[in-house]
Amino acid sequence: MQPPRRLLLTGATGFLGHYVLGELLGRCEAVVRVLIRGDRSDGLVRLAALMRELGVDVDAHLSSGRLEVVEGSLPDSLDVQVLSGVDTIVHSAASTRFQSDSDGDPSRTNVDGTRVLLDAAAMAGVQHFVYVSTAYVCGDFSGRVSETLSEHPPAFCNAYEASKMVC
Ligand SMILES: NC(=O)c1ccc[n+]([C@@H]2O[C@H](COP(=O)([O-])OP(=O)(O)OC[C@H]3O[C@@H](n4cnc5c(N)ncnc54)[C@H](OP(=O)(O)O)[C@@H]3O)[C@@H](O)[C@H]2O)c1
Repeated sequence: MQPPRRLLLTGATGFLGHYVLGELLGRCEAVVRVLIRGDRSDGLVRLAALMRELGVDVDAHLSSGRLEVVEGSLPDSLDVQVLSGVDTIVHSAASTRFQSDSDGDPSRTNVDGTRVLLDAAAMAGVQHFVYVSTAYVCGDFSGRVSETLSEHPPAFCNAYEASKMVC
């Protein structure tokens, strides 16, 4: 497998996602493009504060071209240009709320949003798609959990687990 040249990372402002961003910037030479929800400058302020805690200077990486920031929200707002030149996607964005809300989350972001991103990736010819999931896809199950999930979905403790199982 060729090393990635340009990655799209979703969820970089998240608890897990900002550590992933730190590792990507530190360990590989690819340009990392991050998808930020809402206003770009607000998102950059939030991202810079998180990365500062890890000793990563966002401004320096932006200036050197190692880091790119694009706006977008899943599933509604994903510009086709977001995937321009991207060979690898690391999809860490998710709704981590346990109970469903009136907007349809967590299913809306985790299922519909992931489908939109997968479709866009296929259209753009992205070669690798890394999906960040959770061990809780095993649901309300006790005993030894196989790495190969059952074809029959188990019962779930909440809507978040169920939404992650779908993908
Ligand atoms: N944290 C854990 O212990 C844990 C354990 C197992 C698996 N995971 C998995 O790891 C991944 C990341 O989790 P996390 O803890 O980093 O979650 P988090 O702290 O809740 O962060 C979620 C990230 O996704 C973004 N996001 C949410 N909805 C979005 C949407 N509709 N469109 C675009 N971006 C959206 C958020 O952006 P904003 O900043 O704008 O809200 C944020 O960057 C998830 O897939 C989760 O299932 C996490």
